[in-house]
Amino acid sequence: MRYIRLNHRVVRISKRRDTTKGTFCDQIANTEDNPLQAALKLSPQAVGDGTASEASVDDYSDSQWEVAYTTADPGITAVEHFDAVIVCNGHYSHPFQPNVPGMQEHYHKETYHSRDYDRIKYTLLGKRVLVVGSKSSGTDMARELTQIARHVFVSDRNYKHEIDDSSSADSDDGETTAAPRVSNLELLPGISHFEPSVDDDESVIVFTDGQQLRNVDAILWCTGFLYKFPFIDAQIDSTLRAPITVEGGKRVRPLHLQLLCIEDPSLAFIGLPFSVVPFPLFYCQALYVAAVYSGQTTLPSQDEQYALLVEREASLRARGLYDGKYHYLGDEQFQYVRLLSRSSGHLPTADRGVHGSLGPMQEEDGDGIYGSGGVGDKEKEEEEEKRRRWGRYIDFLEAIYGDNGLHKPRYVGAPDTYRDRRYRVNW
Ligand SMILES: Cc1cc2nc3c(=O)[nH]c(=O)nc-3n(C[C@H](O)[C@H](O)[C@H](O)COP(=O)(O)OP(=O)(O)OC[C@H]3O[C@@H](n4cnc5c(N)ncnc54)[C@H](O)[C@@H]3O)c2cc1C
Ligand SMILES: NC(=O)c1ccc[n+]([C@@H]2O[C@H](COP(=O)([O-])OP(=O)(O)OC[C@H]3O[C@@H](n4cnc5c(N)ncnc54)[C@H](OP(=O)(O)O)[C@@H]3O)[C@@H](O)[C@H]2O)c1
Repeated sequence: MRYIRLNHRVVRISKRRDTTKGTFCDQIANTEDNPLQAALKLSPQAVGDGTASEASVDDYSDSQWEVAYTTADPGITAVEHFDAVIVCNGHYSHPFQPNVPGMQEHYHKETYHSRDYDRIKYTLLGKRVLVVGSKSSGTDMARELTQIARHVFVSDRNYKHEIDDSSSADSDDGETTAAPRVSNLELLPGISHFEPSVDDDESVIVFTDGQQLRNVDAILWCTGFLYKFPFIDAQIDSTLRAPITVEGGKRVRPLHLQLLCIEDPSLAFIGLPFSVVPFPLFYCQALYVAAVYSGQTTLPSQDEQYALLVEREASLRARGLYDGKYHYLGDEQFQYVRLLSRSSGHLPTADRGVHGSLGPMQEEDGDGIYGSGGVGDKEKEEEEEKRRRWGRYIDFLEAIYGDNGLHKPRYVGAPDTYRDRRYRVNW
């Protein structure tokens, strides 16, 4: 497989749709000459009724990805062709700001998004600031702003009075200890709407419990980000295939394991899941994609991938996560990384029978990823020890994640000693 480093901004990735050749799956099902396409060859169900077209190798040139990118020369766009594209463009750069009723009409003061915090924070000096959202950004920024702003209000739609009333937080040793309140920090529930004031030209911010807030100088939206792939969205004409859609900036679908395009597995996305320990999880995603693209792991059929997706989406809907938290993993992440690691051959052999929803490993006689052909006992044992270590690494991650979670502050402004926890690990 050829790869090059493109140290430039990608502006479009596209595949031309040739309706005479059937689907991408039809096309790759018949090619053995291209190793990547052979690796992605799907099982018979994937090609529908099995009437895949008799395409020649030349026909497949169209199923490469055309990647257009800007170069250092202004105005110049270069083009390269690739068998596969793995998109890793991050998802913390396109701000999401909810559209609260009445805001456009009645609130005319400063508004910012957490993305721009470093640039704007000192403009908030001495002001009354409303921070909306209290996950990592909201919590960190509200804490710091108490040193800069005159008064900081934090609106969290999950706010519960009993948390604010609590004056305690878990200490490092698990005991409950008194936590000093921050005098210029106040917690509020979600915003219901904005209203005009009858007394002056100030707006009134009304919260879901009926409380009202006036004289807010600035609002800092710490309400997260949107998934965006401008280089995929840039469809210049209808013959270009768009194998995924991004719904409401929150759902990238249809993907197998939040990772590989079901319609076209030569397009992969690493890094979509959130509320995770990012780097080990993304690493496991990379292992799985590499195993699929190198032919060491066989994908389940397209029908099976869709069936798994339908099952997962039903579960997300049942848990109220479908709309805003489609790519949320949280505690599920360790099951997910084990599944990816196992299916890419990175967990011990003893576990290999359990493939979960990832599809079977390829285990050809002697040459499969766990095969013994040509590999001596010593190397086999070393490989196995590597897999055991990887398994232990995931176990430790899970244990640390679980323990650290117990020490996170339960409300904004509580001590954040959890950041300074140290673990001695013997693996
Ligand atoms: C404020 C903040 C604090 C965080 N703190 C932590 C922390 O303490 N610990 C932790 O583990 N995680 C932390 N995270 C999360 C972590 O930063 C992300 O999970 C991680 O950076 C994601 O890595 P990534 O490679 O997927 O995306 P990114 O790191 O966002 O990298 C994406 C890359 O793609 C490039 N790119 C985008 N579009 C194009 C294009 N069209 N063409 C070419 N290149 C493009 C970008 O320039 C960038 O280099 C934090 C995130 C934020 C926002
Ligand atoms: N110190 C750190 O390590 C650090 C610091 C900053 C950021 N980060 C990372 O940066 C990433 C982004 O974090 P983030 O805090 O910016 O975003 P986030 O985790 O997506 O949190 C968004 C917040 O906005 C709220 N929200 C979303 N939609 C809303 C709506 N319509 N109305 C009201 N509230 C709404 C959410 O509430 P719900 O919970 O109810 O959805 C949540 O409180 C994360 O990976 C995070 O770990 C890390």
